[in-house]
Amino acid sequence: MIFEQIDIGGDRNFGYIIGDPKEGVAALVDPAYCPEKLVARCQELELRVELILNTHSHPDHINGNSRAHELTQAPILCHEAAAGLLHPDRSLSDGDKITLGSLTISVLFTPGHSPDSICFLVNGKLISGDILFVGKVGGTDLGEGARQEYESLHKKLMTLPDDVEVYPGHNFGVAPSSTIGNERKTNPFLLRDTLEGFIDLKKNWTAYKKKHGIA
Ligand SMILES: [Fe+2]
Repeated sequence: MIFEQIDIGGDRNFGYIIGDPKEGVAALVDPAYCPEKLVARCQELELRVELILNTHSHPDHINGNSRAHELTQAPILCHEAAAGLLHPDRSLSDGDKITLGSLTISVLFTPGHSPDSICFLVNGKLISGDILFVGKVGGTDLGEGARQEYESLHKKLMTLPDDVEVYPGHNFGVAPSSTIGNERKTNPFLLRDTLEGFIDLKKNWTAYKKKHGIA
């Protein structure tokens, strides 16, 4: 498998290329800001772009969809809750499997940061969108959004094995990627084992960051 994390600009956004070199096919994930860069990279790798995937419908993740589609004619796939906005070629739901050549990409529905947030898991690599960053979590309100995010983190992502690698939607942490095991042990939001504690950290995040020297 080819797996590349690409710096695409924006707010330290990452786009991703998942490729199957044997079949010569690729998927682009959140090809925002500079879809041309991802498409050109696939050409270098001799991969034909067959899929465009979105982790959620926020503008900084989808603003390259039209151009990416224009360049590749590849279908756009996103969660069914984003269908009204994105008019995808295929709507996804929790547990769906996406075939890319000989690869299978699993869809995990992880609402919270947005109602249409999904993660993609392929060969032990998790593209976590804006729900889980390295050492941080996605922004939410302090009510239903936070509750859903807490559930998604604990009931979905924290059930994955420690060695699953985490590739977030933004380069907001001390490193561009992590593992589930590392996040489980060190992410301050995941160390809060009650919803109340989780929301309390969100409320006091600015002070917490200052106290612990977190950028
Ligand atoms: Fe977002």
